[in-house]
Amino acid sequence: MKVLFVAAEAAPIVKVGGLGDVAGSLPPSLMRLGVDIRVAIPWYPDIDAVTWKISENKGVGETRLGDTDVPVYLLSRDVFANTGKHEAIVGTDEEEKWFAGFCAAIIEFIRGSDWKPDVFHGNDWHVAQALEHFEKATTEELRSWGYASANLASLVTIHNLSYHTEVLRKAILSADLINAVSPSYAREILTEEFCEGLCAELNERKVDLSGVINGIDYGFWDPKKDAFISSQYGGENWMEGKKRNKEALVAKLGFSANDRLLLGFVGRLDPHQKGVLVLAGAIERLVNMGCQVVILGSGNARAEKALQQVCERHPESCKALLKYDEALAHQIYAGADALVIPSRFEPCGLIQMIAMKYGTLPIAHAVGGLKDTIQDGKNGILYENYDSSAFVQAVERAYRMFTDQGSQWGNMVQSAMKADFSWDRSAQEYVKLYERALEKSKNTHSMSLRHI
Ligand code: GLC
Repeated sequence: MKVLFVAAEAAPIVKVGGLGDVAGSLPPSLMRLGVDIRVAIPWYPDIDAVTWKISENKGVGETRLGDTDVPVYLLSRDVFANTGKHEAIVGTDEEEKWFAGFCAAIIEFIRGSDWKPDVFHGNDWHVAQALEHFEKATTEELRSWGYASANLASLVTIHNLSYHTEVLRKAILSADLINAVSPSYAREILTEEFCEGLCAELNERKVDLSGVINGIDYGFWDPKKDAFISSQYGGENWMEGKKRNKEALVAKLGFSANDRLLLGFVGRLDPHQKGVLVLAGAIERLVNMGCQVVILGSGNARAEKALQQVCERHPESCKALLKYDEALAHQIYAGADALVIPSRFEPCGLIQMIAMKYGTLPIAHAVGGLKDTIQDGKNGILYENYDSSAFVQAVERAYRMFTDQGSQWGNMVQSAMKADFSWDRSAQEYVKLYERALEKSKNTHSMSLRHI
């Protein structure tokens, strides 16, 4: 089966958020299952041809995904030529125009390529116009592209419904199948609270909508091999390992004590999704309870200011580092005792899985993929209401477990470190979705032929 996997970013070549991690780690797992998978991303001007060993063939860049054998195509260099750094254009309105250009390049690429995908697997709103084109393409058009059976099946994966929702709407209406990045999010987006105005469309496509939980790449996320942290450790020596990393982190942050419950927050400071104002509104109470807090992330001026102001009042136990810093993120995963995830909604969330691998317990709002990956009281803490009080109460619960002399905290850490969120199982689910999409598009096609 030949699959073209299309996304706006793919780690390690280019990454702003979780979508990039998924596009960097799911395709290699699919290749291991025998899928002939190839990845296409935009050729942003800040992708360095030398670093990523890119060769050019008729205007298309060609390379491999990191140290894997998965082929990567870089498309539409001319469209993005004057956009500047990829990071800077994310979230701007102009993006829509550029991604329409990217979609045109995808269509052109499939038309001109000798390698014809059976399945087009697109991600998020970026691929909408391409999906729309495939849906409307006539049998003659697809035949002229070289499709013997005039068949190109499609799947769109929703990583987040809240960006460019009107464009994403087209993708939802056009793809053969749709999936969200967790079973809970797939259910939630059928409701007013989470559907971002697309309840009618999503409910109309309900039978074609499913949820597949993301995985993480344990080749990269492993405290035993992590070069960014000062002391490597595994399940057998987690207590000693985490203690050393905590000491190093506390020293780096300039905090006074190293026996407190150290809470980390890592991520985009997006008040719409990530609950950063819930966090800002809770910090005073967390600090008074005896916790230390470290925040790493950037993205929203109001949230940045709110966090900065409250941390400045408690420099001995609160620090807001308003930037993206890969090394520091790893040091927080390793050195913190717990990671707070107060998101309003979370399609999947990857940091809770990473934190668990590092023996850092997630304290999270019971929503979306957080609910599907964390077991309350077993490998983390979940709480129900989206507000600062519910969040503070959850931290209080964690605080009691952390400070009492019993074994519950340690047991939870060990069970978190054993949890398995590797891609293998989810990659198999994607293969099944590809097969279903193929089946579905074949049926649609034979029906339309009958009507000729
Ligand atoms: C988006 C979502 C996040 C998800 C990621 C990868 O960034 O907000 O929840 O984990 O995509 O699918």
